[in-house]
Amino acid sequence: MEVVVLPDTARIAALVADAVEDLVRRRPDAVLGVATGSTPLPVYRELVRRRDAGVAPDYDAVRFFTLDEYVGLPAGSEASYRCTIARELTDPLGVDASHVHGPDPSPDGLADAGERYEAAIRDAGGIDLQLLGIGSDGHLAFNEPGSSLASRTRIKTLTEQTRRDNARFFGSAQEVPRHVLTQGLGTILEARHLVLVATGGAKAAALAAAVEGPVGASCPASALQLHPHATVLLDDAAAAGLERAAHYREVWEHKPTWQGL
Ligand code: GLP
Repeated sequence: MEVVVLPDTARIAALVADAVEDLVRRRPDAVLGVATGSTPLPVYRELVRRRDAGVAPDYDAVRFFTLDEYVGLPAGSEASYRCTIARELTDPLGVDASHVHGPDPSPDGLADAGERYEAAIRDAGGIDLQLLGIGSDGHLAFNEPGSSLASRTRIKTLTEQTRRDNARFFGSAQEVPRHVLTQGLGTILEARHLVLVATGGAKAAALAAAVEGPVGASCPASALQLHPHATVLLDDAAAAGLERAAHYREVWEHKPTWQGL
């Protein structure tokens, strides 16, 4: 796992945008896994800024897969992750809606929604680069503590803490749906490159557990330690709980420039 600690969000966003664009230039029909929440927004704004400036690669053939989705929201709800990704990223990038996929939360199809989503990812050839955030309880996508490290896309129940954390996207915690569909940890681990971004002190404890704690279901994000190509980008506040922070900074400072993320 590569841990990169940077002083500001703008540097993190630029580096992640570079990694995404490098991939799309190398592979114009790349498959991108995208995350929601507040953390990835600076990355999305940077990608859109570059496209508006006319310096971005062509996204016409890129396919996008979201990590997760709420169950029980009215169709077309602005708080749904499908609408969020369209609003923040894929519409401004000019991506055709047919290239943007998410788990299907419609009530009639819930029983096999997970299997259908797994098949769609497989049919696309698997995810090349998966962007990730981390919950303050260590959740990855919506895999809450206790989720199997081998889990696949399925329905899950959110913890009270996650519903409180996500209340800002709704009127109140009570309005945050209790159920979600989420890629499993086993699904996420099959993406070819995992890129996790964490910013702010509220993530410091979860992040330290994920990066330096034991691998286990109690901290779902610790599953990253099992992946051969995982990059974790942090600001100073999110890195505050890391014991080896000085070493990560030294590694980054002396990293050969040809290596990339
Ligand atoms: C949600 C999403 C996660 C995300 C997490 C953190 O629960 N399902 O994918 O990582 O929130 O969100 P934020 O970046 O807003 O802190």
